[in-house]
Amino acid sequence: MKIKLILVLILFLCFVPAQPQSVAQKRAGRMEAGMNLSYLDNYWLGTKEKKFADFVKVSDVAKREKMFADIAKAGFKTVRIPINFGAWASLKPPYEWENKEGPEAADLFVKWALANDLNVIIDLHHTELDNSIPGAATTERIVSLWKRIAERYKNTDREKVFFELRNEPHDISAADWRAQAEQLIKTVRAVAPNHTLIVGFHDWNSRQALIDSKPFPDTNIIYTFHYYDPFIFTHQGATWSSEGLPELKNVPFPWSKDAKIQTPPIAKGKWIENQINSYQKDSAGEKMFADLKAAKEWAEKNKVPSFLGEFGSFNKYAALDARCRHAEIIYSSLGKLNIPSAWWEWDGGFNMFEPGTTKIADCMRKAIESYAAQKPVE
Ligand code: BGC
Repeated sequence: MKIKLILVLILFLCFVPAQPQSVAQKRAGRMEAGMNLSYLDNYWLGTKEKKFADFVKVSDVAKREKMFADIAKAGFKTVRIPINFGAWASLKPPYEWENKEGPEAADLFVKWALANDLNVIIDLHHTELDNSIPGAATTERIVSLWKRIAERYKNTDREKVFFELRNEPHDISAADWRAQAEQLIKTVRAVAPNHTLIVGFHDWNSRQALIDSKPFPDTNIIYTFHYYDPFIFTHQGATWSSEGLPELKNVPFPWSKDAKIQTPPIAKGKWIENQINSYQKDSAGEKMFADLKAAKEWAEKNKVPSFLGEFGSFNKYAALDARCRHAEIIYSSLGKLNIPSAWWEWDGGFNMFEPGTTKIADCMRKAIESYAAQKPVE
């Protein structure tokens, strides 16, 4: 009798249906390794007098058609398209498109992505431009942008097209961002009830902000975070970030006792110097894996999917072999943890190419492959 009961119990346990996946989890499960294709975010190529609205050049748009095919051919399944819709709308209500060429270029990017069977993320990027245009990034204006964007793309394939509400919100408190995000969610949902949204948190979509936050009540959301750690490696030479970074060079990866990192005089006593002091610990593979695991644990605890929307390293001073080692630690961790991602970026300064070519470097290819190799078998 007892044996029979145990047998029934075993049978029951074997056939208990696994927790059904949500729509967002299913769609996230198809994103795999992805790529950011920048250009429609490059507002700085425009003129300030025109509120940067003139930054898009038709020839630059056209030459990107082939890049979608190249990205798909390289094995990436998703393309994230950072788009500065904010540069093309008027500053005053009702925020009409002032420059139609911009949104039309975005339409082409989405079309080309889908033609190459890629998932595509329409990412509202840099709404605040360079912070010099008053009123550019008010909640009212961003809500109005999303009304237009959602209308424009509401009939696209909801299995493949994702809406990312706002890239890297910063200089905004956690509570204020949450309030703004809630309005954006409501706005998009009224127009496009079935598309999956991608939402991150304050403090530049940081991993810590994700861990410190709660998901939204809407269940069709994938939660994004960005991971550029260790920052003094990935951003050495960058002119657009912290003081002391433009002058910082020769940061190896990982830390090595034979390669002493010189603190630029301007960085003395600043955040960059602290980062140099903790670099031995911060560049350890175990530490980076633990960081990513903590993000995954947050998602599991909340039963929501997560997505690493940006990671990569700037090629100005970082050596290619060091960049590949850094990439491989992240890709293999993402594989183990089953987190989809998008590398920053295809053809800008963070690209994966053999220097001077548009061919993905062999050691980068090996890094990418470590993702699939480490992924749990389903
Ligand atoms: C920004 C890019 C920058 C990258 C790495 C992105 O979020 O939009 O301009 O190159 O982060 O710092």
